[in-house]
Amino acid sequence: MLSTRDAFRRFWPYTRGLRRWLVVGALLLILSAACEVVAIWLFGDITDHVLAAKNLHAFWTPAAIWLELAVLTGVATFGGSYLTTLVGERFLLRLRDSVFAHVQGLSPDFLDNRRLGDLMVRLTGDIEAIEQFVASGVIQTVTAAVSAVIFAAAALYVRWDLALVSFAVAPLFWVAMRNFTSRFRDAAVRERESSGAITSVVEETLSNQALVQAYNRQRAEQRRLHREGLSWLEAKMAETRLAALYEPLVQVIETVCVLVVLGFGAWELTNDRVTLGGLLSFAAYLGYLYPPIQSLGQVNLIASEATASAERIVELVEARPAVVNRPAARTRAARRGRVAFDDVTFSYPGSERPAVEGLSFRAGPEELVLLTGPSGSGKSTITKLLLRFYDPQAGRVRLDGVDIRELSLATLRDTVTLLQQETMLFPGTVRDNIAYARPDATDEQIGTAARAADAHDFIIALPEGYDTPVGQRGRLLSGGQRQRIAIARAMLRDAPVLILDEPTTGLDAPTARRVLEPLRRLMAGRTTILITHDLHLAPEADRVITLQPAADVRTVSSDDDPLLARLP
Ligand SMILES: Nc1ncnc2c1ncn2[C@@H]1O[C@H](COP(=O)(O)OP(=O)(O)OP(=O)(O)O)[C@@H](O)[C@H]1O
Ligand SMILES: [Mg+2]
Repeated sequence: MLSTRDAFRRFWPYTRGLRRWLVVGALLLILSAACEVVAIWLFGDITDHVLAAKNLHAFWTPAAIWLELAVLTGVATFGGSYLTTLVGERFLLRLRDSVFAHVQGLSPDFLDNRRLGDLMVRLTGDIEAIEQFVASGVIQTVTAAVSAVIFAAAALYVRWDLALVSFAVAPLFWVAMRNFTSRFRDAAVRERESSGAITSVVEETLSNQALVQAYNRQRAEQRRLHREGLSWLEAKMAETRLAALYEPLVQVIETVCVLVVLGFGAWELTNDRVTLGGLLSFAAYLGYLYPPIQSLGQVNLIASEATASAERIVELVEARPAVVNRPAARTRAARRGRVAFDDVTFSYPGSERPAVEGLSFRAGPEELVLLTGPSGSGKSTITKLLLRFYDPQAGRVRLDGVDIRELSLATLRDTVTLLQQETMLFPGTVRDNIAYARPDATDEQIGTAARAADAHDFIIALPEGYDTPVGQRGRLLSGGQRQRIAIARAMLRDAPVLILDEPTTGLDAPTARRVLEPLRRLMAGRTTILITHDLHLAPEADRVITLQPAADVRTVSSDDDPLLARLP
């Protein structure tokens, strides 16, 4: 379990460059507290020398100073609050950017193993909680501590004996606080988890709305959300009970303190050992002393909450991608597009059975290599190995003779274009989606790619042509249309190797043929690996590789093996 101190140390470096402003902000807030001290002293002065003495002459000078102080306090408070917020928001921006960048570097499968909603909460709510603690929290702590010292010093200066009497109660605050924080933290941990679970249920249900409705699962999903909501409610109430108990408790301690001081003061007053103004300003100092002390207690609660969040962020930040760039990775590739799998064996993490075993094949420029095999035989896994989402446990994958582990990830992925099995579209227009890999592509290039993918005709028939929004995950389009947009996107990318995972499943036979034709033409000089169940395309291929689930892999050439012999 992460301690509050470790959590702070862990995230403090993100304030680099902002600390100057943290200091200025805290100084301004301290200045406003100091002004307050003088104002209270002026109030005592006016009580004794103007009100009690009934002397209006003595009023003007302190009144003028008081007014100036009020303006100064206002300016300092404004500056202090402004800077505190600015530093906090900058910190938040930086931390979120950095955690998001890290998460983007993780393997796609890292995310597949997690609930998206929970990750979303980590990148939003949890990061904000850390900000509350590390950036704003520091200012709050420093300001409160210094203000407490200032008001305590002022109280001591006015009447040290009275002050000591009231300070005797101070340890009570600490005892109260210590008792609260650990329980508060437990509640905060549960609250953060429930928060993630709620967002997950909402995300999972809404993104599968059609499935939910088609299978009449609305009530079940509502119950699921209700259950998570209930645990959130319980955690939140536990937090609130603690925080809400804490406040009145502090107030009672405070009242006891004030009453003791007033009683003692009244006795002193009757013996003429203190003036009314002196007593009133002393009481005011005490009144001002408590808020900073309360504020310190509050920071403590915020810190416990933030530590729960920090733990969740640290867990993300410590996750390592399955593959990393080698220190001296090559950033230049030959870009001819010769692909070779040499005796590659790979099992997914935590899986006993290899997904790919002893696989060897070659694909060169101008070639169309067809990969086929039953479902689960490792075809899509090959795309993940070629793009280095994973490294094989044995054997190697080479690109133009170089082990792809020698290449930087960016270079490798620039060389290979992947068309995934599940068509991925972003919410945006048709044009945005085709140009995703090349945002600088001209309309002409986009049109050419769309024509080659046999998509142009249906696109111009859409209500707004290339500017038609595709909706969430492209759901405003048909499956085949989505697929052809994805093909167009892949074609627009100028990479020597193209690997297409089931590009024609959603297409009718004539469209599939039409797509394949320009594909070959476009792939002139490039290497194309086509994963498909559709063996009608086999005659067009230079080589057909049939995968078997685990073990037993056969490599055959379409030249020496009649296609029909392999059809079931
Ligand atoms: N991320 C993963 N973690 C663990 N196992 C996985 C993962 N992805 C796939 N597998 C397993 O690896 C094997 C090969 O999967 P793969 O997706 O490569 O099959 P495929 O040949 O593409 O099948 P299909 O024709 O149905 O698309 C399967 O047994 C699958 O369950
Ligand atoms: Mg597959």
